Amino acid sequence: MPDGTLAWLGATALSQAMRGNAWLYPIVEIVHILGFAVLVGSVVLFDLRVLGFARTLPVAALARHLLRWALASLLLVAPAGLLLFSAHPEELAGNPVFRLKLALIAAAGLNALAFHAFPYRGVGNWERALPAPKAARLHALLSILLWVGVISCGRLLAYV
Ligand code: HEM
Repeated sequence: MPDGTLAWLGATALSQAMRGNAWLYPIVEIVHILGFAVLVGSVVLFDLRVLGFARTLPVAALARHLLRWALASLLLVAPAGLLLFSAHPEELAGNPVFRLKLALIAAAGLNALAFHAFPYRGVGNWERALPAPKAARLHALLSILLWVGVISCGRLLAYV
């Protein structure tokens, strides 16, 4: 984002309210936390199934249930994240931990797309009782690591 846009964003009434109102920032942060708890919770439970836990649960049915919640949670996470960002856009845009967090979110998204485009296509062959293919398990492990990284960066933002 160009510097002028960041300065403009920081001067908007919304951004000033996020900084000046004692309740607004914490309320938006609670919404952000509720959203990513559902997002990361459902994604990690799905990943654990792909890694071989609870093999009696059919993978495709679990995906239909959990991944719908993961997608819906983005409606809380992303707008709340943008509002939090709007409170201090210039500081955050230059913060390496914030940049790393965004890069990890992008990597987690690409990893999920690649999982669905490749190993998940053949889910009918391995969704009950059998171990998932190695590629699927690698995507699931990477997914857990990337989301732990995103959460760690998010929490570290308060300290760096
Ligand atoms: C997509 C998944 C995301 C996860 C798992 C996540 C995770 C977190 C965590 C753990 C925190 C710290 C909460 C706390 O300690 O109270 C946080 C805060 C924050 N997040 Fe996110 N976040 C996500 C997306 C985003 C997005 C898309 C943005 C902005 C574009 C964003 C911007 C922020 C900001 C600005 C803070 C506030 C930092 C502070 O007040 O110290 N987040 N996030």
